[in-house]
Amino acid sequence: NANQRLVQVMPSLVRHLHAFAREVNLTVAEWTAAVEFINECGKMSDDRRNETQLLCDIVGLESLVDGITSKMLATSNSETPSAILGPFYRQDAPLLPNGSSIIRNLSPSVPWHEQAVADSAFLTGRVLSSCGAPIKKAIVDVWHAAPNGLYEQQDESQPDMNFRGRFETDADGRYALYALRPVPYPIPDDGPAGRLLGLLDRHPYRPGHIHFIVSATGFRPLTTQLYDDRDEYIAKDAVFAVKDELVIRFAPREGDPNARWSLEYDFVLGRV
Ligand code: DHB
Ligand code: FE
Repeated sequence: NANQRLVQVMPSLVRHLHAFAREVNLTVAEWTAAVEFINECGKMSDDRRNETQLLCDIVGLESLVDGITSKMLATSNSETPSAILGPFYRQDAPLLPNGSSIIRNLSPSVPWHEQAVADSAFLTGRVLSSCGAPIKKAIVDVWHAAPNGLYEQQDESQPDMNFRGRFETDADGRYALYALRPVPYPIPDDGPAGRLLGLLDRHPYRPGHIHFIVSATGFRPLTTQLYDDRDEYIAKDAVFAVKDELVIRFAPREGDPNARWSLEYDFVLGRV
């Protein structure tokens, strides 16, 4: 009961691993250190933290595989490009009314209150099919980090499901919500993956980004991220996930006490 796909791909993996070892004259001591390093990543991985995935990410592997997969599944070239899921997605974010906010706690007592007000943003746009038809009842699942650079599950000071929500598009295919303009922050760098970055003299920062999973019946779910074009890390993402089509610019928003910035972005889904 051989696995056909494994039988197909393993010889290539072995060939490339051997070629790598020959090319760099890999020693027993170095190979042993690498095995220990991978063991260390595995041991510290659990539901809350996936260090092995992080290791793949800092060498661009998750982003590469994501690109290969979406190119294979695409049915048109007008679809919005995908981007990696990343380690901080949570299922079952609350379903919120269109036009409401994913900010659970904006009381003046949170330490980053002022920054949150300055970065408040109104996000809207439509979910479309690749021929441009609006898709109603599509679900826009959105999440981003707090101004302190931490996702809600990394940070005990944040309420459950802070900066997370799901929105259903209306009859025009439109979603609308309040969120924050995202800030750059370091990927978790207190483990072996972070140590490796240090040994390579690399920084751990990702440019500020907002995550989305957009789904609708009859269409392929789209996992993607949007990036602020004024971010200093836009061209040096630690996990190599930025794509030109996903780089956006927030515009100043006037006359809205709830938002200083606005962004309009349409998501284009491919058919299953
Ligand atoms: C990674 C991705 C993210 O979106 C993030 O917020 C942190 C880390 C990653 O690819 O490891
Ligand atoms: Fe992220």
